[in-house]
Amino acid sequence: MSHQTVIVLDFGGQYNQLIARRVRECGVYCELKPYTTPLDELRSMDPIGIIFTGGPHSVYAEGAPSVDPAIFSWGVPILGICYGCQLMAHLLGGRVVPAQDDSAREYGKTATGFDTGCKLFGGLPADGITWMSHGDYMEKVPEGFALTAWSEACPNVAIADEERGFYGVQFHPEVDHTQHGVDMIRAFLYDVCGARGDWSMEDYKRTAIADIRARVGQGKVLLALSGGVDSSVMAALLAEAVGSQLTCVFVDHGLMRLNEGDEVEAAFAPWDINFVRVNAGERFLSKLAGVEEPERKRKIIGEEFIRVFEEEAKKVGKVDFLAQGTIYPDVIESGGTGAAGAAVIKSHHNVGGLPDTVDFKELIEPLRLLFKDEVRQLGRELGLPEYLVTRQPFPGPGLAIRIIGEVTKAKADTLRLADFIFRDELARAGEDRNLNQYFAVLTNTRSVGVMGDGRTYDYTLALRAVTTADFMTADWARIPYEVLDRVSVRIVNEVRGINRIVYDITSKPPATVEWE
Ligand code: XMP
Repeated sequence: MSHQTVIVLDFGGQYNQLIARRVRECGVYCELKPYTTPLDELRSMDPIGIIFTGGPHSVYAEGAPSVDPAIFSWGVPILGICYGCQLMAHLLGGRVVPAQDDSAREYGKTATGFDTGCKLFGGLPADGITWMSHGDYMEKVPEGFALTAWSEACPNVAIADEERGFYGVQFHPEVDHTQHGVDMIRAFLYDVCGARGDWSMEDYKRTAIADIRARVGQGKVLLALSGGVDSSVMAALLAEAVGSQLTCVFVDHGLMRLNEGDEVEAAFAPWDINFVRVNAGERFLSKLAGVEEPERKRKIIGEEFIRVFEEEAKKVGKVDFLAQGTIYPDVIESGGTGAAGAAVIKSHHNVGGLPDTVDFKELIEPLRLLFKDEVRQLGRELGLPEYLVTRQPFPGPGLAIRIIGEVTKAKADTLRLADFIFRDELARAGEDRNLNQYFAVLTNTRSVGVMGDGRTYDYTLALRAVTTADFMTADWARIPYEVLDRVSVRIVNEVRGINRIVYDITSKPPATVEWE
């Protein structure tokens, strides 16, 4: 690909992926590389700039992560953030020590003054708030460096050797709490590194299509399409690149949300691909009959999915490539280096084990360089409808793990409708934008109610909505009462079989997002 590259050298800080996303948001391609990456490999990437990330260590501690000082003689600009700043100072002849007293340790929002003559801060206000998180202190700055920012507790919040293009900041410009933080990153990229801003989704799309064509040649590609964001965008990209050489197998297990199967099918109608929709609802339901235990349900669905997919794959015959929806955070988490053949199958992949059972020559992972936001952007670029591109996560086992106890067609239909009303009202109120996942759960609790003049004995529906950054922890969402009220009134009026609605106010932990 013909774009410029910035290397984000990872020293283990918690915001490292965020730094990489910020760089890309500025229109510059970057890759996150572990600090242990051999210098030759970094050099071969021909970076226009390097960013040292933060990290949990102290640079003076034994065995602290470091980098070969030869990197400073490449003539490539370097920005050190937090630990990265201290490491640069340490390696270039400065001295970093533990803060003597608590006042020199800084955590959280800190009033900071800037030298706006420094390229990093040019054109920005001379005073602002930065987000700090450090217990060490640069007692002596290296030769050739000037102090370019300060706070009350700390005289050297930022340092710069503008001649050599070396900059260090003790604070985190990548987090929202730092005012104008992204402007500082942009200044480093454009004013110091000479970035052209050649990373755009339009360019990416063009290059990715050309690359896929070159790699696939006349070969056949097989893709398991789930209808989620990643597999849908991948399908559209492959469709654009190799059209009729692509077969998409979409297994509809009958446990999707309202109209979801039809929406997925409609989205791919514009492309001349072999789109195979397998309506296997009855097959899955018969396997699930009488099963109440959540893990058993998951297992049955996972296994049946593979079986159905295999049957369809056999009809296609031998394929050359199996497409997989690995995205950049998966690559980073699995320690992938981007080297050929280093593909790691996602452990949480919906169709775990699939590649072993299908006859193919190579894996193809066209999204492995993209963050989730970029995958969505690419989807838009490819003309996919907004409802697909912004789709919230949906678990592989679908509604089966949102129906407590035995799954039946009637229960799935009831839940589908109630879930649709919940989503619909959230969208009308504009609340959906503030939520990361929201859905309804059909409990197996029945209770007495009164409707009209009659007694009812119907199911209780639970509403679940969470906000989260990573789904490892999640907070229950504070949806306005008026919205919850509208949802409740509509559901009990429009959905038969439900006479009571509850809202789940547990966070994760101790609860999980899904009920099963
Ligand atoms: P939990 O319930 O574990 O959910 O807090 C965290 C996130 O993972 C999703 N989830 C799944 N996704 N297959 C998936 O593809 C699954 O079996 C599965 N189980 C949970 C869940 O929807 C939430 O986003």
